[in-house]
Amino acid sequence: MLKKFRELLVPTNNKNLDFTEKTVTVKQNELILRKSRVTDTLDYMNLQKEVYYYQPWPAQIVQMELRNKKALYLSLEHSKKLVGFIGVSIVNDAEVHITNIAVSPDFQRQGIGHLLINQVMDYFRNLGYKQMSLEVDTTNTDAIRLYEAFSFNVRKLQEKYYVKNNHDAYEMITDL
Ligand SMILES: CC(C)(COP(=O)(O)OP(=O)(O)OC[C@H]1O[C@@H](n2cnc3c(N)ncnc32)[C@H](O)[C@@H]1OP(=O)(O)O)[C@@H](O)C(=O)NCCC(=O)NCCS
Repeated sequence: MLKKFRELLVPTNNKNLDFTEKTVTVKQNELILRKSRVTDTLDYMNLQKEVYYYQPWPAQIVQMELRNKKALYLSLEHSKKLVGFIGVSIVNDAEVHITNIAVSPDFQRQGIGHLLINQVMDYFRNLGYKQMSLEVDTTNTDAIRLYEAFSFNVRKLQEKYYVKNNHDAYEMITDL
């Protein structure tokens, strides 16, 4: 009874983050966009190795996130190979947070970053969330340009946010 009552008090946090697989076309390539599973961990690790000069997330964190019921992770596949992913976790009843986004170098600058962000923005807007936030390394100009295209603005500067390289981060936010 109490549990049910609590669910009524925090309705958006308890929404089931299902995602129906779909086919998308990017530069005449047919790609599959689907909800990521914990069995995708190795593919996530390999893609991270391709795009980051250091591993932002070890395998245990990837596994934990792919099991997180309050997060949605999407995999984009070309011929069954992971070419991109995005993760969004729920912060509170109004705000969701992009935790990670990556596109394989061979598939970058084809609009996939835009596609992934558009997908999660539509998804969480439809669930009633109002804002989307993220953190980005202040030196990551490609990613910052992508976020600015979706009207993300700097909310705060977090000094020495990244422990591996001591880089600062911008905390950015946009309305959904
Ligand atoms: C940041 C990242 C996800 C962007 O992914 P992407 O798929 O290249 O993004 P898009 O293709 O949608 O947009 C990138 C650029 O390509 C351009 N573009 C989009 N479609 C295009 C096309 N068909 N032809 C040419 N250029 C195109 C976009 O306009 C954009 O240009 P701009 O940077 O001058 O504004 C990717 O660079 C990446 O994985 N980086 C490493 C991981 C990382 O840093 N993640 C962010 C952590 S906070």
